[in-house]
Amino acid sequence: MRDLGIIEDGAVLIESGKITAVGTTDELRRQSKNADQIDCSSKVVLPGFVDSHTHPVFAAPRLIDFEKRIAGASYEEIAAAGGGIRASIRGVRESTTEQLGGHVLRAFNEMAAFGTTTVEAKSGYGLSLESELKSLEAIQQAARQWPGTVVATLLGAHVPPPEYRENPDEYVRILCEEMIPEAARRELAEYVDVFCERGAFTLEQSARILRAAVAHGLKTRAHVNQLTQTSLEGFTEFHPASFDHMDNVSDDDIAMLSKLETVATLLPAANYFLGLGAFPPARKLIDSGVAVALATDYNPGTAPTTSMPFVLSVACTHMKMSPAEAIAAATFNGACALGLQHRKGSIEPGKDADVAIFEATDYRELAYWVGVNRCRRVFLNGIELSW
Ligand code: NIG
Ligand code: FE
Repeated sequence: MRDLGIIEDGAVLIESGKITAVGTTDELRRQSKNADQIDCSSKVVLPGFVDSHTHPVFAAPRLIDFEKRIAGASYEEIAAAGGGIRASIRGVRESTTEQLGGHVLRAFNEMAAFGTTTVEAKSGYGLSLESELKSLEAIQQAARQWPGTVVATLLGAHVPPPEYRENPDEYVRILCEEMIPEAARRELAEYVDVFCERGAFTLEQSARILRAAVAHGLKTRAHVNQLTQTSLEGFTEFHPASFDHMDNVSDDDIAMLSKLETVATLLPAANYFLGLGAFPPARKLIDSGVAVALATDYNPGTAPTTSMPFVLSVACTHMKMSPAEAIAAATFNGACALGLQHRKGSIEPGKDADVAIFEATDYRELAYWVGVNRCRRVFLNGIELSW
């Protein structure tokens, strides 16, 4: 993660949406005399960020939760009082697919303006068969209008909705027997995610849900160890691509994870926005040999940001990741967390032409400038987005 393979005075050749050559400017100039040229002198050129964890299908910001937290209430207290994830359900249920798709597309474009070219997008605020499928359709609709790459995830297991509060197992049954099969049949999702947490789903319920996912040919990932500790052993049979949050992961599980392909996706914008003093244990994970990715967690409750550079800043300042580690975590390791490492996450011949150009002369500046956008141009599968 510390070796970014930087090429000084580098050049990238792009043809038909693919990277076809990488080298120094002199080398590539000889190879490709007729190519259009973009002058990137005094700029940093990076593989586009891979934002491997986002929740973009919601209708409105959660400003009441925001003010309650400022006044001293915790995330769990607000959720128990009817705020939190459940406060976003109505807006999604009452919106049309087109309205939701419009919100999602706007988020994708905002992300791209910060240098993001691949996004994982979850449903999870509809929490009924109809509204979860509608949320996935909204992601699909936005993805068709966006030149970047989108990976869709069914997060019907975000929290049990109010109508199943007394009988969450019935909601789990609907998820396993209706939502997952239908999402798989209509090819609306590639992954199934669960929020395994106090106040959300138990380990036993999570396992049932992920088992149904695998049975229907979908891949798995999990929100786990965010607020409380859960042993990861119960998940390994599903070969999750990623465990996400991981604030409270145990030392034994870190040792186990270092031997697995599963990525640990850290989401420090959530800690920042919730005003927590503690952050995910990035150093311990990296120093133990776990593959760590960084993502925004873009959502209305804990992380209302589309900015990967902001996440890099928090990761360096509060988690003591080096700027190089943060960039690797936000590009190649993010691609690994989506099983896209052969296509995404690095600038190499044969890969998709996902390239971001930053106003900076040193890569460390990407994590250094806080709250400003230094991204000047971005190419998604070879197509330039302008804003
Ligand atoms: O990743 N942890 C669960 N889901 C989101 C929060 C969702 C919300 O509060 O709306 C997260 O932090
Ligand atoms: Fe999340």
